[in-house]
This record gives sequence, C-alpha cells and structure tokens, in this order.
Amino acid sequence: MFDPNSEIHKRMMASLPDHTEEPPKEKPKPTLQEFWRGSDVPTRFRRDAYSLSQFGQWNDKLNALKDKLRVEPGMICVLRGPRGTGKTQLAVELLKHAACELGLSTLFTSARDIQLITTSSFKDKEVTDMSVLQEFIKPKVLLIDEFDWQPLDKSHYFNSNLFYILDKRYAWCRSTILTSNATVEEFNSRVDPGILSRMTESGGRIDCDNWANQRIQRRIKN
Ligand SMILES: Nc1ncnc2c1ncn2[C@@H]1O[C@H](COP(=O)(O)OP(=O)(O)O)[C@@H](O)[C@H]1O
Ligand SMILES: [Mg+2]
Repeated sequence: MFDPNSEIHKRMMASLPDHTEEPPKEKPKPTLQEFWRGSDVPTRFRRDAYSLSQFGQWNDKLNALKDKLRVEPGMICVLRGPRGTGKTQLAVELLKHAACELGLSTLFTSARDIQLITTSSFKDKEVTDMSVLQEFIKPKVLLIDEFDWQPLDKSHYFNSNLFYILDKRYAWCRSTILTSNATVEEFNSRVDPGILSRMTESGGRIDCDNWANQRIQRRIKN
C-alpha cells in the first residue's frame, strides 16, 4: 500500500467511487418531474408511459431488466440490434426506474460524449483525465448510448478509457447499460474480450433484430 499521506495515494483513492468510511446517506427518491429536471436524458426520450408500447418483446425485456437492475448490481448489459427498435428508449426507461423506484444515481451519456469530454481535458489544466473518468464511474446506473460507435476500433486512447470505465464499474458493482447498432459479428470484433467476458457474468447481450421498428410504428400511428 502507498503511504496514506502521499500524493499518489490521494490520487488513487480519488479514482475510486466510494472511498469514505461513512455509510451512504439515504436520499429521498425523486418524482419523475424531479428526475427530468436534473437529468441529462434528451427531450425525445422523455416520453410518458402511456405513449409507449405495453406489449411485445420490447416490454418483456424492459420488465426483465428492471428486475436484473435490482438483483444484479454491477451488470453490463448491451441492447444490440437495428436502428429504430427502441433500444435507447428502453435504456432510458431503465434509468427512470433506477432513479424513481430504486433511488439510484444515474447518468445518460454516449460514446461520442465520453470521447469529446475526455479529450477536452487535455486543454484544461484544472481537469485531469482521471477526474473526468471518475464522473462516468460514480453513478450507480450508467447508460452509454451507441457505445461501439465507429471510432472505437480506431482510437486506442478512447478504447482504453472505455475499458477503464467499464472495468471499474464492474469491480465496484455499478450497472452499465450499453446500446449498439452493430451486427453480432461487428460487435464481437469491436468489443474488448475482457468486456465481453464481464458481460457474460451478468447482464449479457440482448439481440433486438426481430423487434418492431418503433420509428415506423410511430409514423403509422400519427
Ligand atoms: N416501446 C416504444 N413505444 C413507443 N415509441 C417508442 C418505443 N420505443 C422507442 N420509441 C420511439 O421510437 C423512436 C426510436 O426509438 P430509439 O430508442 O431511438 O431506437 P434505437 O435506439 O433502437 O435506434 C424514438 O422516437 C422513441 O421515443
Ligand atoms: Mg438509439
């Protein structure tokens, strides 16, 4: 162990999500309005429950994942499949459930956000890579939308940051929901084997290939 008074020790400890001895303070669960007010969920996905389908695979998976969130903290789950099948919306419904029913902290982000935010720290002396990554490790439930968006296989810096975030979240039992528009082959070739392995332990991959296209359905309804 490092000397507890050393700078390196302080930095190491600051990189961990919970490093105080104090028990976490019970916070009241937010109402949906309160959740939206402090939330980073984009407007499009702030739908009321009545405007969402109540039947079918989308709904079944949503209910199954709500249970998983409760009983398997630290899961890494990916919703993978064609565009328009409601993956992002389903993941947002899980964030809502986590915040308003389970009282957990949440964050909505995307791979591109992570990339832009981490590289912006290069120019800012006050903000280090570590302090930025920490923000993605802290929330109890994190959604990374479009997580294997193209640059994943091109940028080593981005890949290693993503691995760091997912590994720390797994180790500290914080659940992560990912969405991906890739095919199974693309997905397996893009994603680090270490992450795939952690994913098989809890969470796993949900394939949405046969799900209805929600964009087309919404257009028909209107
Ligand atoms: N179960 C649902 N019922 C009604 N509308 C939905 C449902 N799921 C998604 N939508 C809407 O359909 C559109 C596409 O959904 P989205 O989650 O963006 O799909 P994907 O992430 O798979 O590309 C969005 O406008 C979204 O709000
Ligand atoms: Mg999406």
